[in-house]
Amino acid sequence: MTIPMERPAAAQPTTRAVAGSSLTLEQVSYRYSKGSGGLGPIDLHVEPGDFLCVVGPSGSGKSTLLSLLAGFLRPQQGRISLGGQLVRGPHPQLTLVQQESALFPWLTVGGNVAFGLNKLSRPERETRVAEALQLVGLSGFKQRRPHELSGGQRQRVSIARALATKPGLLLLDEPFSALDIQTRTGLADELLAIWWEQKVTVVFVTHHLDEALHLGRRVVALKAGQIALDASARELTVGGLRGVLEQG
Ligand SMILES: Nc1ncnc2c1ncn2[C@@H]1O[C@H](COP(=O)(O)OP(=O)(O)OP(=O)(O)O)[C@@H](O)[C@H]1O
Ligand SMILES: [Mg+2]
Repeated sequence: MTIPMERPAAAQPTTRAVAGSSLTLEQVSYRYSKGSGGLGPIDLHVEPGDFLCVVGPSGSGKSTLLSLLAGFLRPQQGRISLGGQLVRGPHPQLTLVQQESALFPWLTVGGNVAFGLNKLSRPERETRVAEALQLVGLSGFKQRRPHELSGGQRQRVSIARALATKPGLLLLDEPFSALDIQTRTGLADELLAIWWEQKVTVVFVTHHLDEALHLGRRVVALKAGQIALDASARELTVGGLRGVLEQG
């Protein structure tokens, strides 16, 4: 992916009302077992409506961080709060999109996107599904099954499913890494447009430093479970970021 000289219009941090939630981590740590890999202790604050990219070498704790944020793991120390409320477990305001789309193969695209909306009335659910599919450019695909879609389309359905719940925080763990470069670049730009329109707070994990600088307004680099860098994307270059990650 090439890095534009100018950040795309959609990513300009001009004034806009935000609907996303703030996120605060205070001295959060998690170890899978005594003396093993994990994360922390870390402090982190994400402003409502911000777009944070998390980079770092394999095993540096990126997915652990997202699992903690999603409420799938409970911190052994410290606290995580979303919009001032303590995160105690999985919550509809938090949705996680992972590397491989985890769609239900027996459900249609519409059925997959509607999953998790069972508290809504049928007409409300239909409207949400239609809106979410339109956001990801798949309005005509509602009746298809996952196996009838391309990899990029399946990831778009995963994003639509996440957006349909109108989350305050959208978490994405290397969502485009199984895709070819062109599809990845196209989806990254679509995600920026969706972020701008939906005003959701985003935490996006990627291995690709150029992708992090293209998408993020802010970038955090993790190394061995610690925050090695936390900076505005505007102040960073791919070379500078690589330098931080390669420092011993
Ligand atoms: N279920 C688990 N049990 C034990 N250790 C684990 C488990 N999951 C991850 N770890 C360890 O925790 C550390 C952080 O792993 P994590 O998956 O968060 O890294 P990552 O930055 O997402 O890596 P990658 O870029 O390869 O996805 C690593 O040392 C890893 O071996
Ligand atoms: Mg990972």
